Amino acid sequence: MSTNPMRPFALCISFLSLLISMAADTTSPYSPTDYFLLDCGSSSNTTSFDGRTWGVDSASKFSSSNAQNVSFESTADRQQASVEQVPYMTARIFNSQFTYTFPDSAGPKFVRLYFYPAAYSGIHESDFFFNVTSGVYTLLSNFSASLTVAAMEPQVASIVKEFIIHVWENQILNITFSPSPSFYAFVNGIEVCSMPNNLYISDSQPIPLVATKYLFPIDNYTALETVYRLNVGGASFGGERDTGMFRKWQEDSSYIFGAASGEILQGNDTDIRYTPATPAHTAPTAVYSSARRMGPVTNINLKHNLTWIFPVDSGFYYFVRLHFCEIGKHITRVNERVFDIFLNNQTAQEGADVIAWSTGVGIPIYQDYVVHMIQYESRGKQDLWLALHPNMDTGSWFADAILNGLEIFKLNQSYGSLAEPNPEPVRLPLPVLQPQNSKSKGLSAFTIIGAALLFGIFALLSLVYFFILGKRERLGCWESGKAKMKSMRRGGFSLPRELCRHFALSELREATNDFDDVLVIGHGGFGNVYKGYIDGGDTIVAIKRLKSKSKQGAHEFLTEIEMLSKLRHRHLVPLIGYCEEEGEMILVYDYMHHGTLRHHLYGADNDPLPWKQRLEICIGAARGLDYLHAGGQHPIIHRDIKSTNILLDHKWVAKVSDFGLSKMTPSDDPVTTVVKGTFGYMDPEYYKWMKLTQKSDVYSFGVVLLEVICGRAAVDRSLEYEQMSLANWARPCIEKGMLDEIIDPLLMGQIADDCLEKFVETAYDCLLDQGIQRPTMDDVVARLEFALQLQDNADATAEALTLTVSE
Ligand SMILES: *[C@@H]1O[C@H](CO)[C@@H](O)[C@H](O)[C@H]1NC(C)=O
Ligand SMILES: *[C@@H]1O[C@H](CO)[C@@H](O)[C@H](O)[C@H]1NC(C)=O
Ligand SMILES: *[C@@H]1O[C@H](CO)[C@@H](O)[C@H](O)[C@H]1NC(C)=O
Ligand SMILES: *[C@@H]1O[C@H](CO)[C@@H](O)[C@H](O)[C@H]1NC(C)=O
Ligand SMILES: *[C@@H]1O[C@H](CO)[C@@H](O)[C@H](O)[C@H]1NC(C)=O
Ligand SMILES: *[C@@H]1O[C@H](CO)[C@@H](O)[C@H](O)[C@H]1NC(C)=O
Ligand SMILES: *[C@@H]1O[C@H](CO)[C@@H](O)[C@H](O)[C@H]1NC(C)=O
Ligand SMILES: *[C@@H]1O[C@H](CO)[C@@H](O)[C@H](O)[C@H]1NC(C)=O
Ligand SMILES: *[C@@H]1O[C@H](CO)[C@@H](O)[C@H](O)[C@H]1NC(C)=O
Ligand SMILES: *[C@@H]1O[C@H](CO)[C@@H](O)[C@H](O)[C@H]1NC(C)=O
Repeated sequence: MSTNPMRPFALCISFLSLLISMAADTTSPYSPTDYFLLDCGSSSNTTSFDGRTWGVDSASKFSSSNAQNVSFESTADRQQASVEQVPYMTARIFNSQFTYTFPDSAGPKFVRLYFYPAAYSGIHESDFFFNVTSGVYTLLSNFSASLTVAAMEPQVASIVKEFIIHVWENQILNITFSPSPSFYAFVNGIEVCSMPNNLYISDSQPIPLVATKYLFPIDNYTALETVYRLNVGGASFGGERDTGMFRKWQEDSSYIFGAASGEILQGNDTDIRYTPATPAHTAPTAVYSSARRMGPVTNINLKHNLTWIFPVDSGFYYFVRLHFCEIGKHITRVNERVFDIFLNNQTAQEGADVIAWSTGVGIPIYQDYVVHMIQYESRGKQDLWLALHPNMDTGSWFADAILNGLEIFKLNQSYGSLAEPNPEPVRLPLPVLQPQNSKSKGLSAFTIIGAALLFGIFALLSLVYFFILGKRERLGCWESGKAKMKSMRRGGFSLPRELCRHFALSELREATNDFDDVLVIGHGGFGNVYKGYIDGGDTIVAIKRLKSKSKQGAHEFLTEIEMLSKLRHRHLVPLIGYCEEEGEMILVYDYMHHGTLRHHLYGADNDPLPWKQRLEICIGAARGLDYLHAGGQHPIIHRDIKSTNILLDHKWVAKVSDFGLSKMTPSDDPVTTVVKGTFGYMDPEYYKWMKLTQKSDVYSFGVVLLEVICGRAAVDRSLEYEQMSLANWARPCIEKGMLDEIIDPLLMGQIADDCLEKFVETAYDCLLDQGIQRPTMDDVVARLEFALQLQDNADATAEALTLTVSE
């Protein structure tokens, strides 16, 4: 008899898995009847950090027979520190439609899709756009994992999308990946896990629709996507500590709004007693044994709300489940802690009393609501507000409120879609200034360091203001800084009314024929720009109406007014005034007759700009930028230099615009900050290390110079991969001296050789990898002026020659 060398090993494995499953059986209130875990693209079974075993997806019973024809296995080109080996480092890449099938029993299932955006087999992370569907449901549409991850706050490197889908009797659960035309699809891991039948959806219990008197029926025809699952007042914990369904619970501190962040309540000595109404699989004891309450000072609590803010996609219904459990020593009877619950500023529940609901201390209970996030003009994110406020109407003993946990799910739209558009490319939200209540003990070190850091930066900036500004302005500025800080705490903002003209909303409505669409001259993530006539039609202006919904918008609005009202320069777009009324944020500028530089280079049917004019525009924009960097007493980094932010007035004078992302820096030292800007223009040093310097603007300006000479976009996805990014494509061409390859054909014969050489060399130097090697803007201006001079000389010589010839 031959001995199988693998035998003891296999035995050992099965013994281990037996142990693991036994452990799971004894600790988990629920053990899944169906459980599939696939490490896609892996060639052998793997084990993740949490001890779970992941199977292979190739040639398995889950993948369709054409697997090898339409997909291949690949490994990510890099592993970021926070990214675990399993399942993220291997992926299956699809070049056309591909379906996984899971032979599930009937009932609701969690479907979790794991994505780590990276380059796979030379396919860049921006080349993945795809749909994921399951039966009639569209789970993801034109999904880009890299754009989604880039927009997430707090920052992450990978993402798990969790859905709940009902599998019907005699049906197979299918998950289909379909790449968008000329793009690819990928997935790193797939998890399918069954759950108790009535955990979230029970046909017998319709749920109140907030702000109406209706009950909303969620039946088993509806698919859900988990958008938030929080362990309020407690720490984040991973899947294996859940009640058997591997759900991930996150801490809530990133979502708490304003100064009244409440106080953390720890009840780990309270016995959590589950009931038939709230069985043990509902949520782990870790969720119920920690909570957040308003705080000890009862009367002050009446002046506040305990508020959380959750950005969600517009145009969907959301299923909100709030978990409660009284764990304090002081609250043991009915009418001791009574509060109101507001969802989206509407009363969802009056007189909530956890003890009355649950009948005692340590008994968990949950309440469900449905909220409709109405879709206004455009799709995109909106904030879902959850606020708790003490209710003293029934003579409650304490003025306080409590919350232990929360889950928010998106419901599919009537045609079965759960998909949202991709976020705006790499425009990350600003870190929100959230001074924390330093008395609360449960704050993590991270929040404290973060708050200290923010305060430090603020203090530093204030000091800089204090020292460099003139005597007259000193106190005023300090005060307005304080006022700004204060108003940010409230979530609002203050405006330097004295610095520029203030418009009434009615004035601007009249100027734009009530924001008539035919007057729109530009639009972007921020909102629309309208052409308008003010002062009785005498003055033409550009009116930028920011989308009022976002906090980020408010920050950028304020930044832009502050920057522009202080800066005046021939090559910066002049701000005339602003309007802030009825939640509107509107900026009014001089009208720039010729629009953006980009529209005179490519993509629009304008007459091609002659070379000398292009050169003069570049010099103008460079001077504007140089003024920002060096002209004032405190350097300013623009952060979003691109050809659409260089505007041209009626005399073709270049003006730098859009200061919404700009940053004032205390010195020449790099500022560490969240990465913001536009894809294709972003300094690799800034992108990689988050070190922002003036040289980041120089890099972006180098890309603009290339656009000017090449007559093409910074990123052109219709081209082959090597050519897609202008900077990456042009640099090797310049190194090899293959300038003819890259130059805009419309410029042929117009450029003097030595001028071309000087210009291209300048652009090339601006794009050097290390900021320190790039020229300053001052230097760039000088070099471009020199290039112009070379061109003038050549033109003069040519003219002289033609004159001589014609004589
Ligand atoms: C992977 O695990 C599955 C079940 O756990 C087992 O049936 C299969 O043989 C394993 N495959 C390999 C390559 O070890
Ligand atoms: C894969 O493609 C080849 C050629 O296109 C075809 O002959 C073969 O049948 C395909 N195999 C499967 C499993 O679809
Ligand atoms: C869905 O709900 C219907 C109606 O209540 C019920 O008869 C059916 O069994 C449910 N299906 C599943 C898969 O739970
Ligand atoms: C899944 O696909 C199979 C065939 O591949 C099909 O018979 C079944 O109806 C599909 N299930 C759903 C829910 O669409
Ligand atoms: C992806 O989904 C969208 C919206 O449902 C649809 O218009 C598009 O055709 C789908 N693309 C592919 C490749 O299936
Ligand atoms: C409760 O938990 C906190 C924080 O995790 C810990 O500091 C404390 O010692 C625990 N108390 C008990 C009684 O276990
Ligand atoms: C709720 O109220 C706050 C101010 O109290 C406001 O900023 C927010 O936009 C409101 N939310 C909605 C959805 O109306
Ligand atoms: C609490 O929030 C609700 C709903 O947004 C609002 O109506 C109420 O004015 C707020 N109360 C306080 C004290 O801020
Ligand atoms: C979700 O989609 C299904 C299938 O299209 C539909 O029957 C159901 O009503 C939708 N749910 C909601 C809440 O619109
Ligand atoms: C897919 O998303 C990208 C990025 O948001 C967008 O530019 C593109 O137009 C979208 N494609 C489709 C077909 O919707």
